[in-house]
Amino acid sequence: MVYLNGNFIPKSKAYVSVMDRGFLFGDGVYEVFPVYGKKIVGEELHLKRLQEGLDAINIVNPHSNENWSLLIRELISYHQDYHNQSIYLQISRGCDDDRKHTHGDLMPTVYMQSTPFASKSKNDLLKGSAAITRDDIRWNQCNTKSTSLIANIMYAQDAKNHQAEETILCRNGVITECSSSNVFIVNDNCIYTHPEGPYILPGVTRKIVLNCARDCQILAKEKTFTKQDLMKADEVWITSSTREIMPITSVDGILINDGRIGDVWSLIYDRYQELKNTN
Ligand code: PDD
Repeated sequence: MVYLNGNFIPKSKAYVSVMDRGFLFGDGVYEVFPVYGKKIVGEELHLKRLQEGLDAINIVNPHSNENWSLLIRELISYHQDYHNQSIYLQISRGCDDDRKHTHGDLMPTVYMQSTPFASKSKNDLLKGSAAITRDDIRWNQCNTKSTSLIANIMYAQDAKNHQAEETILCRNGVITECSSSNVFIVNDNCIYTHPEGPYILPGVTRKIVLNCARDCQILAKEKTFTKQDLMKADEVWITSSTREIMPITSVDGILINDGRIGDVWSLIYDRYQELKNTN
């Protein structure tokens, strides 16, 4: 079952008009909520970011947070057979009578679907993952979770073509984030990640990780770092709602810290698991 404009219907029956501005222009925003059993991790933070995205592109939020919560829970309930699920929620500006760049007030198109997902086990993560780096050519409003993802999907495909997990992005020598995750490094037991602002998506997992660092009394700084810092870091990780916290052991074919996975990752990973499994 999926949710489309007020109704829960089978996916095979869910259609959107070719006049939808989501289809024609990528004119919309989205969220991805990770759900473990029935627990939605970071629900409030995801709904807050959704509101910020809608405000940024001038779409009126079609639901209150209470309503969203009920709708998301109803969608989850149709997929009890999924152990874990990720809820994809998209709001586009809606349909117009013809294709034009400008728009009036339209009725937003609201779509939600659920996909089963399995987070990797710690043992699997300990095998390490590869990443590549590319210049970050995206716009200066990366903090809006827009459905216009052409650059991001090109980076993701580039990583896939190089048998890598992710593409780490670099803007004027500074590491920003990845195609669909945030990036952290550890140096001398201090965690670094790019500060919030126009160059990164303020990841919900990123925020939870910073809280985990505080819980574990590990120093964490929201401070920029360069590609050189990345290459000689003690640890590199990427974070997202579906990847959780994933150690990266090679970048552009070069081993990070001789391919060793660090203790800081392990502590933060364990704390994240603890939080996600408590009600
Ligand atoms: N991606 N940066 C970018 C560019 C992202 O697309 C994402 C999430 C993140 C991590 O955000 P969060 O921790 O809130 O998931 C960072 C989602 C999962 C996606 O596009 O499917």
